[in-house]
Parts: sequence; structure tokens; C-alpha cells
Amino acid sequence: MPAYAVIGGQWGDEGKGKIIDYLARKASVVARYSGGNNAGHTVINDQGKFAFHLVPCGIAWENVMNVIGNGVVVDPNILIDEITKIKKANLPGKILISNKSHVVMPYHIELDQLEERSRGNTSIGTTGRGIGPAYVDKVARSGIRMDELLYPLKLQEKLSEIIEVKNNIIQKIYNGNPVSLENTVNSIFRWNNFLSPYIDEINHLFEKTLNQDKNIILEGAQGSLLDIDHGTYPYVTSSNSTIGGAITGLGIPPKKITRNIGIYKAYCTRVGSGAFPTEIKGKIGEKIRQQAGEFGTTTGRGRRIGWFDSVAAKFSSNINGFNSIVITRLDTLDSWKEIKICTKYELDGKIIENFPVDHEKLSQCKPIYETLEGWNSSTFGISEYSKLPLKAKKYLSFIEKKLNIPINLISTGPKREEIIAIKDPIP
Ligand code: GDP
Ligand code: IMO
Ligand code: MG
Repeated sequence: MPAYAVIGGQWGDEGKGKIIDYLARKASVVARYSGGNNAGHTVINDQGKFAFHLVPCGIAWENVMNVIGNGVVVDPNILIDEITKIKKANLPGKILISNKSHVVMPYHIELDQLEERSRGNTSIGTTGRGIGPAYVDKVARSGIRMDELLYPLKLQEKLSEIIEVKNNIIQKIYNGNPVSLENTVNSIFRWNNFLSPYIDEINHLFEKTLNQDKNIILEGAQGSLLDIDHGTYPYVTSSNSTIGGAITGLGIPPKKITRNIGIYKAYCTRVGSGAFPTEIKGKIGEKIRQQAGEFGTTTGRGRRIGWFDSVAAKFSSNINGFNSIVITRLDTLDSWKEIKICTKYELDGKIIENFPVDHEKLSQCKPIYETLEGWNSSTFGISEYSKLPLKAKKYLSFIEKKLNIPINLISTGPKREEIIAIKDPIP
């Protein structure tokens, strides 16, 4: 039966974790397809509050298989830590790691941080988790796959050569600290011991599930505007967070994806460097950040805040082909007197409605806003559409018209039940 993709429509942190946890009650499989532990997905439900970095957000549901796909890069230390916490919290979901997913090694983490430092004031603001360098090795065909952790003696032999090369780069180019071969070898035996039962091939499971009357959720990480091809390059992550990544990152036939669900915050945030036309800078931005608690789930960095950008949103919905929209954090706008939405940009004295490809051009774009009246009352926790203030409904309908895609869910708080289901995207 069908697959449902859940994809961030902005620069990440749209609330994908919350929505996937909500939707997963109707799924047999939740499969993460891209990124690594640069992601931080918050889930709050009856079992507690969790921040998942690698394990998919269907883990709180019994009988849901949570797959880490071949498109993901996995830091085994982080995954072991996460699985240990999941077991402690008695979360009942099951876990399967693709034997084709790549390992984030200690030298990747070292290199990520050294490369960032050497970029100086053009640094990307990566999460420093080794994600970029791990994907570089994957594409260069010199990466280590999870499958290889099943044969640690063989991997040990290969590792001494790799580490020699990596340490040359670390020391001679970046003047950094070498990675210890001995510690890394000890690690691979520990990883083998803990993770072996979870590592297997994933495609038979998808085939079986899709042939039965069961649903698969394809879990996106990051956001479409951070996609390596379609995002604000070079201020992007190193994988395809858009729909193409879901297909290659799992091995799911495109025709099986019946619904493609775009998650958008009711405003915008961005972590790290890069153009952000609707950014609210200075004291007001800081005030909103503090009030809304907009700090990264992975790094704790303050998130940059901005108005909803419908030019960027339309671009991401077009490249993904969203046919269902979810708006999160509506309640965060409750006390704003007026709310702006960017509907066009001005670039070099001309009005444009298309999101520029070139980052330099995007950074010169001036947003043109339409201003709507704020509703000035609490929507927090509302679960029925009829109970929303009229002005909040007007705001949502403005976004819906701009994107020309139905809003199926509206999130009004961080907890699972704080949601308005206009029409559940998974029937
Ligand atoms: P993700 O990376 O897309 O899963 O999003 P994050 O978990 O990194 O960031 C989203 C933040 O917003 C988390 O702190 C969530 O608990 C919170 N959140 C999600 N939906 C809502 C909502 O509707 N209202 C409020 N107030 N918080 C929300
Ligand atoms: P979730 O899944 C927000 C950003 C980083 C940086 C850029 C590159 O929680 O939405 P990287 O470490 O990937 O090389 O960093 O991408 N970034 C995210 N921003 N949410 C995320 O994930 C992110 N994952 C990466 O801040 O700007
Ligand atoms: Mg996040």
C-alpha cells in the first residue's frame, strides 16, 4: 500500500518530529532517508519528551518498525546512546538499520570542525557532527558502510590505511589533532557488539509492507531549503532532504508515494549561516527567540527568526510536489499585533516572485510583505478548527491560497494531542 513522505518545507526544525509521532499511529514502518545526527526531532507524548537524532519518530508506537535508511549517515556512538535511552524509557517501537547506510567516523567529526574553522567568516555554521565529510567519503567511494561493522576484523585492517591518510590531512593541512587508530579500533568492536542485531537489509521489508495493506512514512530530516542541490548552496547540508532523497535514500518506487506532506512553521527559522530574506534581526528577533524558545535541538544554538516567506515556501512545495500541508507552531504567533507574510522579493529594482538559485542574489533580495492583523488571543492546545479565532483562520487561509495546497493539520502546541486535524493526511 502507500508511502507518505513527511518533508520540511523551510530550513529545518519545522516540527517534523511532532507530526511524524502523531501520524505514526497509522503506520507499520517509519523510515528516515537522509542526513545524520545533525537532525534533532522533538517528540512530546504520554511517554515523555524526547529529542531523536537518528532513530525515526515512530518509535513510541508498538509494532512500528523504525528504519534508518541507506541515505542516512550514522554516528554509532550517538545511535547507541539513543537506543539506550529509548530502552530505558520503554518505548515499544522496533529498530532496523540499513546495511548500506554509511558510518560517521571520528575523523569525519574532526574534519568537519577543522574545515569550518578554516572557512573563517564564510563558515557554513555546520552542526560539527561530521556529516559533510562522511558524505564526501560516500561519494568518493571510500566510506565505511554499516555492513562492514559486522566484520570488525576485516574492517580493522582497512582502518589503519584510512586513518593514516586522514591524519595526514588533519595534521598537515589543518594543523589538527590526529585521530587514534587504537581508540577507533576499540570503538568498532564495541559498535559491532551493540549494533549488529539491528543491521540488515531493508528493501524486503518495504516490498512486503507495500504489498500488504500497510503504510510507510518516509521521514525527512532538515528542510528543503537546506537540500544539497535545491537549497541555498553553499549554505546547505550535504544530502538531499527533498523528495528525491526519499526515493534514493530508501529504495522506494516513486509511484508508491501517494501523499507528499510539507511541514511549515507558521513563521520561519534558520540555524547557521546563509541568506534569510525575511529575517527579523536585532532586539525584536531576540525577544521572539526567547519567548518562543527557538534554540536548536541538536546544538542548542539560537535559531534565527523571520516572517513566513511564501516565495521560498512556494519554491519548496514545487520541487517536492507537496499535496498536503501541515502548519506548526500557530500558537507562537498568538501575541503578535500584526503578522507579515512575504509574497514577493525586490531584486535590483525589479519585483520577482521566483526564489533565486544564486545565493548572492538571494542575499540581496528585499522582502515585500502583506500585513495581516494578529488575533491576540490564545490558540495554544486548540484541537478543533471551529475554536480558532477568525483572524488566525484568515492567516491560515492566506497561506493556503498562496501555496494552493490544502492545509490538513494545524499544530497548536508541542504535545502530540495539541493538533487540529482538518483532514488526516493518512486516511
Ligand atoms: P524538527 O527538527 O522539524 O523535528 O523540529 P524540532 O524538534 O527541531 O523543533 C521544533 C520545536 O517546536 C520543538 O521544540 C517542538 O517541541 C516545538 N513544536 C512543534 N510543534 C509545535 C507547536 O505547534 N507549538 C509549539 N509551541 N511548539 C511546537
Ligand atoms: P532537523 O532535521 C536545522 C543546518 C546547520 C547548518 C547546515 C549544514 O532537526 O530539521 P551540517 O551539519 O548538516 O553540515 O550543517 O545545515 N542543519 C539544520 N538546521 N535543522 C536541521 O535538522 C539541520 N540539519 C542541518 O545548522 O546551517
Ligand atoms: Mg530539528
